[in-house]
Amino acid sequence: MRKIATLVAGALLSATAINLAHAEDIVVGVSWSNFQEERWKTDEAAIKGALEAAGASYISADAQSSSAKQISDVEALIAQGATALIILAQDAQAIGPAVQAAADEGIPVVGYDRLIEDGRAFYLTFDNVEVGRMQARAVLEAAPEGNYVMIKGSPTDPNADFLRGGQQEVLQDSIDSGKIKIVGEAYTDGWLPANAQRNMEQILTAEDNNVDAVVASNDGTAGGVVAALTAQGMEGTPVSGQDGDHAALNRVAKGTQTVSVWKDARELGKAAGTIAVELAKGTDMADIEGANAWTSPAGTELTARFLAPMPITKDNLTAVVDAGWIEKDALCQGVSNGPAPCN
Ligand code: GAL
Repeated sequence: MRKIATLVAGALLSATAINLAHAEDIVVGVSWSNFQEERWKTDEAAIKGALEAAGASYISADAQSSSAKQISDVEALIAQGATALIILAQDAQAIGPAVQAAADEGIPVVGYDRLIEDGRAFYLTFDNVEVGRMQARAVLEAAPEGNYVMIKGSPTDPNADFLRGGQQEVLQDSIDSGKIKIVGEAYTDGWLPANAQRNMEQILTAEDNNVDAVVASNDGTAGGVVAALTAQGMEGTPVSGQDGDHAALNRVAKGTQTVSVWKDARELGKAAGTIAVELAKGTDMADIEGANAWTSPAGTELTARFLAPMPITKDNLTAVVDAGWIEKDALCQGVSNGPAPCN
């Protein structure tokens, strides 16, 4: 009996050793489309933490918003020995050759936060349609009637249209009843705040400042929108955002932004690192924890996992302080007699 136990123990030890050794051989290459939003630094720290915990290593490249550079970045990460890839795609279509290059080498790919229109990539993100619904719900509650402006994300990022679709779902009844009217709408190249500000300025001029609410699709563009409104003495006009940027959460505390839909990038990054390691070990995408079959609007069948977003308004600002996402001092800077915890 003892002999059998010894044999089993030996087998388990060797299996564990192989597993650990295999983990030490895992190199996860992360291709970032850009790093302009503060959230990506949080995402990166979480990915690195998960890889370190698994005994895997991290290499990366920043495409600086160039879809062409991102292709060469991925090729370089493969050349450096990546055994799994995490890709934040600059352009859902243009990224195709990079996925093909990975597939040619048998390297698994995690499409990070943004859709990659290829069934060979595991799609990990937050429910972006629900993010859009949350943005519109908060603005509609603050401005149930009037002229609306839609400041969208980058035209090369499918998230921009997922968000827009969720926003439209929530606003449709009020549009149909004539309570609200969309008087201006624009994509924001590269999600750049300066582009959002310029678009908003042009719409305010065209509408002679007759604007009652702005559905902006992330906190960066919301910052550009608030700057344009403030220049016209219109600060306090309801404005939405997403990402839980510290500047945006401070605007929510000050009353110059209505909502920031918070997506805990620490959870997304941790999940991505864990999934990349599992795929590198040979786990099938369908066997990844929380994975579901999902079909994209274009009909691509993917394996996906969606994390849940949370809208942060003046009514629940304490949640992001309690979660350790932002310090109370940063949240409440320049705020007097504000909403909890800034009061
Ligand atoms: C989107 C992402 C958002 C937004 C934007 C900025 O794809 O889902 O969180 O901030 O990128 O690059």
